Amino acid sequence: MTVPGDAAEPEGARVPATVVVGTQWGDEGKGKLTDLLAKDMHFVVRYQGGHNAGHTIVVGGEHFALKLVPSGVLYPHIVPVIGNGVVVDPAVLVAECEALERCGVDTSRLVISGDAHLIMPYHYEIDRATERYLGRQKLGTTKSGIGPAYADKASRIGLRVQDLLDEKIFRQKLSVALREKNAVLAKVYNRLALDEGEIAERYLGELAPLVAPRIADTVGLLHDALDAGRNVMLEGAQATYLDLDHGTYPFVTSSNPTAGGACVGSGIGPRDITRVVGIAKAYVTRVGAGPFPTEVDGGLADLLVERGHEYGTNTGRRRRPGWLDLVLLRHAVRLSSISEIAVTKLDVLSKLAKLKVCVAYEADGVRLSRVPYHQSVLHRVTPIYEELDGWEEDLSGATELGELPPAARVFLEVVARHAGVPVTFAGVGPGREQFVRLAA
Ligand code: GDP
Ligand code: IMO
Ligand code: MG
Repeated sequence: MTVPGDAAEPEGARVPATVVVGTQWGDEGKGKLTDLLAKDMHFVVRYQGGHNAGHTIVVGGEHFALKLVPSGVLYPHIVPVIGNGVVVDPAVLVAECEALERCGVDTSRLVISGDAHLIMPYHYEIDRATERYLGRQKLGTTKSGIGPAYADKASRIGLRVQDLLDEKIFRQKLSVALREKNAVLAKVYNRLALDEGEIAERYLGELAPLVAPRIADTVGLLHDALDAGRNVMLEGAQATYLDLDHGTYPFVTSSNPTAGGACVGSGIGPRDITRVVGIAKAYVTRVGAGPFPTEVDGGLADLLVERGHEYGTNTGRRRRPGWLDLVLLRHAVRLSSISEIAVTKLDVLSKLAKLKVCVAYEADGVRLSRVPYHQSVLHRVTPIYEELDGWEEDLSGATELGELPPAARVFLEVVARHAGVPVTFAGVGPGREQFVRLAA
């Protein structure tokens, strides 16, 4: 870890940062949009979550499925940053960097905040044990230790990335944490205790030397970059309705993907952010348990899953599909001050004669145009749909708005009208070049 001296003299005017945030339950195509926008950026920062994320980028037919490494990594001019709000399994990080290097991607610029928390072996054990304990009430987590790692952070018994640089502190903290974890694992969950020496050897002996050169004062680095007029993008993982505070609790992740989380998780203040790009799939998917008002089943579900390849990037789980929910989208716009929307996977809807978008809910005989405050109500709402004409054409080659059929343009107009902000991109395929840019 380098100790920075005084900041360099500013080279240009301070430029506000951009946030990319998912507006649904994840897998909206944040990776692709981040990669797309990264062309004009200097820094791409992950601000929350961990390797529960799976962000896919397709370049020249080659698939990259990123978990922890920010989606800007594919560009040689980008500095990818793992911010303080992320939880990091150093073994996953090292393996991901090695895999990228094998594909010819240079990861040497990647830096990690020393304040980010470490995912430890007992976090996986507890994640799995808790899910088993919950039985039919389980959340369907990615079993990556995310919840237990954030719980330890909040309980103030977490280990941080910077602890890898101080053997004494690391061992002290591990000893305290593991005593409690082993007691819980053995006495509550009837699991075997984990060995302190083995964990210390793995983290300090094997992983610390590989991670240490990347540990940096990322808050200082980002502010110096902003001062120097550099473009910074903050890449959300998960999504609005998986947000610990604003999502469909308890069927959520344990961090704050909404744009407020971008400030906390990177150390950039709210006045330094002006552009918030909300990513909305043209339909909705959800992995794991939890309410989903517009969920569909039967043949339509199979069709969306197969055409959209709706299987988890990392876990391989089949995603639950449903129609686009504009009630949720409107609320997501409010929660994150979203300034524009990118609609992805418009191509997947081709050839459906009729399309539905949910414009309101009905519960107990009452029409609701907002997400109900009481979640029990959300669990039993019936969607009120507006039906739109579909289109026959294959959109995958479209590059301009004029190349989209009129019905697809109407679809995008309806989204913009209900969201209250412009739609600025429409995704028409997984490839980096497969998008249509719309006027703001
Ligand atoms: P993320 O987690 O939000 O980054 O999204 P994922 O990568 O988990 O899932 C999105 C999937 O859709 C990936 O397989 C992408 O390659 C793919 N994808 C992204 N945008 C589009 C699009 O516009 N059309 C199609 N057909 N696929 C897309
Ligand atoms: P990206 O960034 C979709 C879901 C899990 C589960 C819940 C809690 O690729 O959009 P966790 O392991 O975080 O404790 O699981 O959150 N989940 C995701 N669903 N996309 C993701 O990430 C997700 N990350 C977590 O399926 O329901
Ligand atoms: Mg994903």
